Amino acid sequence: MEQTKTIAQAARGLHGTVAIPGDKSISHRSVMFSALGSTPVHITNFLHAQDCLSTAACMQALGAAVTFESDTELTVCGHGLHGLQEPSSIIDAGNSGTTLRLMMGILAPQPFLTTFTGDASLHKRPMGRVIKPLTQMGAKIYGRVQNTKLPITVVPAGRRLSGMVYESPVASAQVKSAILLAGMYADAPTTVVEPFTSRDHTERMLEAFGVYTEKEGTAVTIRPVGSFTAPEAIEVPGDISSAAYWLVAGAIVPGSSLLLKNVGVNPTRTGILDVLRAMGAHIALQNERVSGGEAAADIRVEASVLHGTSFGAEIMPRLIDEIPVIAVAALFAEGDTVITGAGELRVKETDRLQAIADEFNKLAPGSVEAGADSLVIHGGTKVQHASCFSYDDHRMAMSLAILGTAGAGVALERPECVNISYPAFYRTLQDLQQ
Ligand code: S3P
Repeated sequence: MEQTKTIAQAARGLHGTVAIPGDKSISHRSVMFSALGSTPVHITNFLHAQDCLSTAACMQALGAAVTFESDTELTVCGHGLHGLQEPSSIIDAGNSGTTLRLMMGILAPQPFLTTFTGDASLHKRPMGRVIKPLTQMGAKIYGRVQNTKLPITVVPAGRRLSGMVYESPVASAQVKSAILLAGMYADAPTTVVEPFTSRDHTERMLEAFGVYTEKEGTAVTIRPVGSFTAPEAIEVPGDISSAAYWLVAGAIVPGSSLLLKNVGVNPTRTGILDVLRAMGAHIALQNERVSGGEAAADIRVEASVLHGTSFGAEIMPRLIDEIPVIAVAALFAEGDTVITGAGELRVKETDRLQAIADEFNKLAPGSVEAGADSLVIHGGTKVQHASCFSYDDHRMAMSLAILGTAGAGVALERPECVNISYPAFYRTLQDLQQ
């Protein structure tokens, strides 16, 4: 792909139907958990994108049979909960925080050594948030910079892990999931308490494997697992974090009308629907259904006049990955939008608060102020054409492309990172403008 991608302003609105690609979080978990079973699991609508392919390669390196029947369909078969094998070389998690953090939880109780590496972005991201609680359970995990950064080596604990109650300082499904997965192998129940409830895909998918967690408020408890029975099939719903770009584009580009097919609408993920509706967006859910323990629906969005809004820490886990594109919606709304409690954005694939401020202010000078954990977006600021940088962050690239589409176009430097979660993004953007 070219080093700079030119995105034109949409002349006549966006129209059409989009089949939303598989959910990234659920795709990761489908391969990981299937690799811990001992019978084949047929996975459909798998997200064929770099992050989830990193997980598939990781599970293969640990001895699971992973066979792709097509880009989005695969069969995974492991050797049981205690059947993972020592990898013959270093495992590369690429750009994927989910792969690395959940795998630390799965590998901490195993009787062999694994070393992880990843790309430049993943080397900068905080891993102490997972290593610290796993170490409290008795795991032996070593990383650069006082056990907080890649490269990371997980060595045999030499004993069974201890169950514990962990009060997590962050609402993070990656932290929660790593601890719960390690807790399956522990000697007593393990509880994770979060400040706010994060996405619950791990808990829901474990049920399909016969493992039930108990939930009380923001606490989740798992008991030591005796039997782990894989389902025959897992169907992955579409990713609301990918649908988010079309939800916003459909709402802000005048004259647009889009139908988004098969969007996962798990309530721990639908913060963007609440925020866009509060801003005045015309969004309607159709054909609501439940598949494999996860809610899904088709979503119709039509262009409307949006107004600014405010939201904070409480809703943050339900829309954490959508902040960059919600900021785009806010830029095209009337009045200011104030986002607080968003400090976690500073430790995503890039520092997204800084990236949003720097790039939005190139396209709409004076539009964004970033604080330590906040953003103020001045809606209605005049938007111009400019060159912008993706920071090799997929969600920044897609958000800036939508900003350019709704505004005056954008020349996007390093656009290819969309392959992390949405390889068909630019093609779909073009198709919707025909
Ligand atoms: C994810 C959890 C979130 C999210 C990430 C995927 C997951 O991260 O931002 O894209 O699949 O568990 P945190 O758990 O760090 O908030």
